[in-house]
Amino acid sequence: MMLPPNGHRAHGFSSAFFLNSDEIIRELKLKGDETFMDAGCGDGHNVIKLLEDYDHRGTVYAVDVYDASIEDMEAYKKDNNVENLINIEADITKGIPGVDDESVDVVLMVNVFHGFKASRTMDEAIDELARIIKADGKIAIMDYKAWEVPKGPPTAFRSSPSELEEVFAVHNLKMTYLNEEIGEDIPQGKSHYFIVFQKE
Ligand SMILES: C[S@@+](CC[C@H](N)C(=O)[O-])C[C@H]1O[C@@H](n2cnc3c(N)ncnc32)[C@H](O)[C@@H]1O
Repeated sequence: MMLPPNGHRAHGFSSAFFLNSDEIIRELKLKGDETFMDAGCGDGHNVIKLLEDYDHRGTVYAVDVYDASIEDMEAYKKDNNVENLINIEADITKGIPGVDDESVDVVLMVNVFHGFKASRTMDEAIDELARIIKADGKIAIMDYKAWEVPKGPPTAFRSSPSELEEVFAVHNLKMTYLNEEIGEDIPQGKSHYFIVFQKE
């Protein structure tokens, strides 16, 4: 296990090493009072950035299936007295306890969604995300382009934006935003895309 720069434990490779949190947060166009969730938060660096540098006032959920990530986020909450941070250890595909139906404005998943393709649990994940977002809520996914390049997950686990559009359409969610020029500079271009889905 590699410790991310903030010293928190992460199950999987923290994007703190190669993606720019400010670039990601700017894509979300937040006002500051939204109920926000980082689903598959890992070391929580995007949540910490949002709380510390953007003074986010709305409720912020940090969710991960890895117990050590949530333990570290609980220590961070305590040490820094962050009242609007709620940390939840949960498997997104099995349900996120304590989060009401239609209560979240924005869910972010950075380098998480391809894992659902790998475990063939995309439909279960989307059902749960659709349950928790408000009628005008957003599901924002930043993930690796479906290219055969050495860095990142195996090509078979990657999805193109149009493949995701098809899968989300089955759950009555439509694409409302797409940026394909984001992430790390690699020889083939920008490494990632950022896509947003909302209820029809
Ligand atoms: C590659 S890491 C990315 C972490 C973080 N989003 C980042 O950008 O650094 C993927 C994270 O998703 C979490 N994860 C994977 N499957 C999950 C699931 N079904 N439910 C909740 N978290 C999950 C992993 O534990 C890990 O922390």
